[in-house]
Amino acid sequence: MSLFNQLVVTAMPFIPKAIVGRVARRYIAGSELADGVGVVAALNMSGMMATMDLLGEDIATVAETHQVRDNILPILRAIDQQRLNSNVSVKPTQLGLNLDPELCYKNVRAILDQARDLGNFVRIDMEDALTTDATLALYRRLRADGYTNTGVVIQAYLHRSESDVRSLVKEGANIRLCKGIYNESPSIAFKGREEIRNNFMKLLTIILEAGTYVGIATHDDVLIDGSLGLVRKFGLKPAQYEFQMLLGVREARRDQIVRDGHRLRVYVPYGEQWYAYSTRRLKENPHMAWYITKAIFVR
Ligand code: FDA
Repeated sequence: MSLFNQLVVTAMPFIPKAIVGRVARRYIAGSELADGVGVVAALNMSGMMATMDLLGEDIATVAETHQVRDNILPILRAIDQQRLNSNVSVKPTQLGLNLDPELCYKNVRAILDQARDLGNFVRIDMEDALTTDATLALYRRLRADGYTNTGVVIQAYLHRSESDVRSLVKEGANIRLCKGIYNESPSIAFKGREEIRNNFMKLLTIILEAGTYVGIATHDDVLIDGSLGLVRKFGLKPAQYEFQMLLGVREARRDQIVRDGHRLRVYVPYGEQWYAYSTRRLKENPHMAWYITKAIFVR
């Protein structure tokens, strides 16, 4: 990261929310479900699939987790009613994982019931490493209960991920593979760009060798090109994998992947609580400091 970007990242908590919001708008569909539905419909028209995400973190009470669950159920109904090509992604801590794993299990199960009735799928996002064991346990319990309409996320930066992937492919899991976004300790995570890339490619190879369906979630040209190489090497059909990207990121590369005949799913976040998600995305943007500076001085 450039020195200028680092300076702006440090100053981010002091930058007015309205300015961050102006720059971050590209990463968020809007604050209402209707905004998310509109963005997904447009993506579908352009030949892309979607996964919808209701923004929100740091849930503190049982009632809030029920509220989140009750706000996710209408997403599934809207997808069905509008005949959209989209599934839903959920964050376990939004649904109570850190309060009580049993509460989280019941909330996610209610969402999976609705999704199953409507023929849809729910991806369980992976959060920081303090939640990895509990998230995988949640996923496995749901699978053991017969829910086949759910999948997990593996973060290539974690040392443990190779062992997790080797187990998950034997269990017939549906895996989204990403680098990982949280700031983890070097005792449990690779920190170097090349190390993380190497592990991503190693994990993807294990997944594809096992014939497991995978969402290849990256905007990194090195990884996209490497993945395309593996797709060719294994002679995969488009239905056996998909690329995944975040809304507002690398749109030219995204459109090229679709033009080349690969399936691609866009992660579409919406909701009132856009700030934490947006600042994470901004920190990943190599031109972020310039955009923020422009937003401060150009009105
Ligand atoms: P990298 O960050 O190196 O980006 C590669 C290039 O893409 C950059 O050089 C830049 O050009 C461009 N770029 C990336 N981000 C940008 C931005 N915000 N704005 C502009 N340009 C940008 N993580 C996690 O821990 N748990 C999860 O469940 C998920 N889920 C998830 C779903 C989907 C669909 C995606 C695409 C990603 C996630 N992630 C995630 C996030 C993931 O772990 C990772 O942090 C980001 O995808 C960034 O990593 P890249 O592989 O894109 O590489």
